[in-house]
Amino acid sequence: MFFNKVLEGLPDPIFGLGEMFRADVRENKIDLVVGIYKDEELRMQLMPSVKKAKEQILTQDLAVDYLPIDGLRSFCDEIGRLAFGDERWKVHHGRIYAAQTLGGTGSLQIGTAFLAQEISKEAVLSNPTWANHSAIFQRAGCKTSFYPYYSKVLHGIDLEVLFAFLKTLPEKTIVLLHEVCHNPTGCDFSQEQWRALSLLMQKHKLIPFFDCAYHGLGDGLDLDRLGLEIFLDDGHEMIVSYSCSKNFSLYCQRVGALFIVGENAAIKMRVGSQVKRIIRSLYSNPPAHGARIAAHVLQEIDLKNN
Ligand SMILES: Cc1ncc(COP(=O)(O)O)c(C=O)c1O
Repeated sequence: MFFNKVLEGLPDPIFGLGEMFRADVRENKIDLVVGIYKDEELRMQLMPSVKKAKEQILTQDLAVDYLPIDGLRSFCDEIGRLAFGDERWKVHHGRIYAAQTLGGTGSLQIGTAFLAQEISKEAVLSNPTWANHSAIFQRAGCKTSFYPYYSKVLHGIDLEVLFAFLKTLPEKTIVLLHEVCHNPTGCDFSQEQWRALSLLMQKHKLIPFFDCAYHGLGDGLDLDRLGLEIFLDDGHEMIVSYSCSKNFSLYCQRVGALFIVGENAAIKMRVGSQVKRIIRSLYSNPPAHGARIAAHVLQEIDLKNN
């Protein structure tokens, strides 16, 4: 009566493939779907430090009331230090608003909703990119198009073509950047390329939106954040979306963070007030368990170093 005109939606390109794989009865099938960290034997492992943190937290008598709208403060601070590096976090955290989110996807959603509401509804994504990026931006009401990224001829980034394209964009266009382990090409900017990109984006007043879904899984925690550091040092206002799914193997706990880097503490407060309004109307506040695990790992030096 009400729902008989609902049309069937297309399956998700990544999760849909997983479902097809599980349904396939052939014995010699191989799962090559990306997005989950596996060992040499293709087994998904819970990292030992995360396992220990999980066990230790379960013995604590922790509060069961709601978390604040933007999540656990100790988690946001610890992930801030991890994402931006200790020194830069110390210097800049006064102007960086941070919220705990439902994984990296939740962070992308909230960041995009905030930008669409306050600043811009034009976004460009790399060609190619993670299959969910377009859907996230479009759901927020953004117009999306693609910037040239991977060149099949060069087997790498064609910087000249990319830069020529970026120069044509209107001011305040959102440019979605993969921090490291570009999904799906695996092809990342070098330090020099990040520097040149930062200057160009600053000159043309483009909004950097970093998607950090694989921090630590490229060349290590320090080298993987080079681009982010360069943009921060150059004084950009920007959005940073951080996922703890892969680097903490906390996939199903849905743990991530959103950072919005403003010019000063007053802007941070106002930005935070708008983000909290968005979160409150969507899911009110995030769950505690996964964020407590991640914060515990980072607070306990033995777990952090392992
Ligand atoms: C590039 C990229 N961004 C974001 C995400 C989302 O991460 P999460 O699972 O934490 O929502 C993924 C997940 O595969 C990804 O590959």
